[in-house]
Amino acid sequence: AANGNGRPDRQIFNKLMKMPAAIYKNWLVEHDNNQIAWLRLDVHNTRTNILSQDVLDELQEILNELVSKTPNGVAIISNKENGFIAGADIKEFTTISNKQEAFKKVQFGQHIFNLIDSLSCPSIAVINGFCLGGGLELALACDYRISLDDSSTRFSLPEIKLGIHPGYGGTVRIMRHVNPLVAMGLMLTGRSIDCRQAKKIGLIDYAVPKRQLESAARQIILSKPKKHFVSPLVNLLNSRLIRPIIALQMRKQVSKKANVAHYPAPYALIDHWVNYYGNEKKMLQNEAQSVAQLSTSETAKNLVRVFLLQNKLKSLADNTQDTVKHIHVIGAGVMGGDIATWCVSQGLTITLQDLNLQNLAQAKLRAFKFFKKRFKNKELLNAAMDRFVVDMAGSGINKADAVIEAIFENKRVKKELYAFIEPKLRKDAMIATNTSSIEIEDLCDAFADPSRLVGIHFFNPVIKMPLIEIVKGKQTNPRIIQQAINFGKQIGKLPLPVQSSPGFLVNRILTPYMLEAGLLNESGTPVTDIDRAAKKFGMPMGPLELADTVGLDVGLHVAELLSSEYGYTIPVSFKSMVDAKLLGKKAGKGFYTWENGKIKLPKSKTSNNDISSIQDRLILRFINEAVACYREGTVDNKDLLDAGVIFGTGFAPFRGGPLQYIESTGATILFDKLNTLYKQFGERFSPDPGWDKFTS
Ligand code: NAI
Repeated sequence: AANGNGRPDRQIFNKLMKMPAAIYKNWLVEHDNNQIAWLRLDVHNTRTNILSQDVLDELQEILNELVSKTPNGVAIISNKENGFIAGADIKEFTTISNKQEAFKKVQFGQHIFNLIDSLSCPSIAVINGFCLGGGLELALACDYRISLDDSSTRFSLPEIKLGIHPGYGGTVRIMRHVNPLVAMGLMLTGRSIDCRQAKKIGLIDYAVPKRQLESAARQIILSKPKKHFVSPLVNLLNSRLIRPIIALQMRKQVSKKANVAHYPAPYALIDHWVNYYGNEKKMLQNEAQSVAQLSTSETAKNLVRVFLLQNKLKSLADNTQDTVKHIHVIGAGVMGGDIATWCVSQGLTITLQDLNLQNLAQAKLRAFKFFKKRFKNKELLNAAMDRFVVDMAGSGINKADAVIEAIFENKRVKKELYAFIEPKLRKDAMIATNTSSIEIEDLCDAFADPSRLVGIHFFNPVIKMPLIEIVKGKQTNPRIIQQAINFGKQIGKLPLPVQSSPGFLVNRILTPYMLEAGLLNESGTPVTDIDRAAKKFGMPMGPLELADTVGLDVGLHVAELLSSEYGYTIPVSFKSMVDAKLLGKKAGKGFYTWENGKIKLPKSKTSNNDISSIQDRLILRFINEAVACYREGTVDNKDLLDAGVIFGTGFAPFRGGPLQYIESTGATILFDKLNTLYKQFGERFSPDPGWDKFTS
């Protein structure tokens, strides 16, 4: 029996449940025999609970009823299998550009959570899995928090990653239960913690197995145990006199990662704590004002865009195919070894093949070191090592769900290998190459069935880089492309489908930018000025430090390949440095000196040189190439291009991607600058015809 909105009829439901219940679109409210009201959140038409306006409106209605007829207690629980609440509805914030409107929205959220906080009966959040952002703020408004004792239960306040900080009272209430310095650490990094850590720091009160979750919550409500608060001594240690001193240190730490001009939120959060800690009322007021200010900034809008782009890449995967269990990797060098390690860390079994036993041994040793850090538990570590199988004879080929080739970047050698392995492959196995520069069309004819080959381009270092390019050969079977995308998502990477053209997307866009850095250096600009200019723009690393990190030989090889296609000028110094074995980090010397893998910056003071012209030269070559890729259809649309460039190169996330940057800065302004540089330096700054799409 369903009513108009597809939900069960309330009266029939009440009879069936033998329990008075009220059904809302997103909530189910039951009163049990102990007169405890169970507020069960089951957000309509989604897999995951999020706190949209609609959900909060209903919660307000429910709470108002509870205030007028107070039960013995209130338990807030999720009716979704996968977790508690994943946070507020981010998309709603993207539509607000006006600070007053944002302030009203945040204040409304605060008002609802204040209602929970001020209930005259005990309240408890019953947390069955992830509890993030606004979800954790809601839990903090309850008197008690109990969670499922399971590794899947995660807690975080990740707002900082979206350019804001918690706004529904979270910055205030967390400090009641958690040492403010620990709380600030959580909010400033946005990192997540598991239930054991959460219990240790006082974020939750209890962690119990699933079967006891509801009964324990009921017991707590009925017995009203003493609530946990931080000790008064902690408040003393965070006094008005001491806070500014601690804040100095905090700002210093934050400034290593985030420039205040680009990322104001962590600094605003520190100021908020320094100025208002100890006065909850003022803190709530300032929290709302600060979030309203931050959420309407360009940075927050772009960081939300980055978050949504990330989801977009993940959503390219579908659920139509079986998950992969066994991968056979051929080539145990820098890339193959790390691809194998990463896949094992994601739960897969791998067989790793190489001609060279020493390379195999080294790869397994590297894997061991990585697993040791990742899996603190010995059983998990041993299990991971067991799933990493060294296979010199290649006996895994005929059993594997997928084969990834990562041998030398040599067309002939790769093709010989394919011809040899094809008859052994399972008919349904995916075969992928990790080539960084050879087009799939130039490799696939080694197969009797060329439609099987797809590119899966991992980036170095595999462990750290989130993106993989799924390279679509003209002949590649669409089913295999989908299989590769699904595989990418399965192993926790962001899969970006790209056309098979020289450099694909990421190397293509990075190359002219890095070459320009070389040309600048050749004409006398100091290395540190060049890298400083790029970092000031928001790049995570300067182009010359990047060249050193990648290896000048690897970079030169890619540049030579691409320059034959796109006519780039390669600085003579690149070649002479490679000839002199100044290869960068791995050689201990390149543009910088490196000691034990760490960069040694020159002792000389930072120059006072004006770096804006350097910045223009670097960034405009980058952007111009992005425009060319967009025009050529290297990826399917603008969003995918921006996503690929952000996750593949680290392009200033707060700018939302190169094409978004063009739109926010104004295409004509950038186009005119490019033209000026073209007149000054010639052909390499010639604006791509694709600018028409932006300037007209
Ligand atoms: P590498 O030289 O470190 O390792 C290649 C490995 O393949 C060596 O251990 C070698 O013994 C083995 N090998 C060669 N022929 C073989 C065969 N017939 N059967 C079995 N093993 C064989 O090379 P690296 O850097 O790992 O590159 C591998 C692939 O990944 C290349 O296609 C490269 O373009 C690509 N790539 C490299 C990146 C990098 O930064 N190094 C980044 C992205 C892709």
